[in-house]
Amino acid sequence: MARNVWRRLQLSRGPSASRLTAGGRTLSPEILDELPATDPRAIRSRRDLQRVNRVMGSCGILSRALRRAWAAAPQHGPVRILELGAGDGSLALRIAKQLATRWHGVELTLLDRQALTGEAMGTAFAHLGWTLRPLIVDVLEWARAPTQQHLAGRWDIVLVNLFLHHFEEHDLRELLAAVAARCDAFVACEPRRSLPGLLGSRLLPALGVSTDTLHDAIVSVGAGFRDAELSRLWPAGGPHWKLQERPAGPFSHLFVATRGDTA
Ligand SMILES: C[S@@+](CC[C@H](N)C(=O)[O-])C[C@H]1O[C@@H](n2cnc3c(N)ncnc32)[C@H](O)[C@@H]1O
Repeated sequence: MARNVWRRLQLSRGPSASRLTAGGRTLSPEILDELPATDPRAIRSRRDLQRVNRVMGSCGILSRALRRAWAAAPQHGPVRILELGAGDGSLALRIAKQLATRWHGVELTLLDRQALTGEAMGTAFAHLGWTLRPLIVDVLEWARAPTQQHLAGRWDIVLVNLFLHHFEEHDLRELLAAVAARCDAFVACEPRRSLPGLLGSRLLPALGVSTDTLHDAIVSVGAGFRDAELSRLWPAGGPHWKLQERPAGPFSHLFVATRGDTA
């Protein structure tokens, strides 16, 4: 029975187990990225994403990593935080609930190329004493903005969840270079290109997710990361950065970069 299940998992669409473990990343378009924000399928997928994040333990992984990344910094908490590819902000809100007792008065910028955060989200952050600023722009435009432009800005911490895997290596290099130039700590939680990741994604129908979400989850694992793949793309030279990259939880891959003089 177990063998039959495994064979079915391997034969359905998406990267095979052997390809995943032996080969490099495989990028394929994700359905959610191509749907307008108001499309009912997109709305359903974003709701599914909240469940997927719960199963992946993303909030806990990121909250712990953020606390650690900032632990050796000056006495005060971070003031300016930016999330790239933040979606509707629901994950950021769960993280803020974990951190707001110690980190007061944070200015949080949520960048996404779609306008997804409503007034209610701003109010929810305000209850925690945090200020929400949505930034609707393509992240590569943000990365390419000259440093003197308002868009470029400067942040204590930049974070991402389920985002970097959307990009090819040359765009990732450009994006990570911009991140390194504009913050003191960077935390990324991404799909891990691994057998548990592949298995987990293919078992998602058990959670009742849509076929769009299932598709996107499977291709995300194929585009995910392993080993030191993100560290190798982090800009060399310039200020000293301390890099950590490792598996986190059953399905995730965590990358943390902290400036040598803050951690
Ligand atoms: C898989 S979702 C993750 C959302 C959120 N981080 C979470 O974990 O719930 C990826 C998000 O990245 C956004 N996105 C994709 N490509 C982008 C780009 N080039 N610039 C800005 N946002 C982008 C999408 O609109 C989507 O909201």
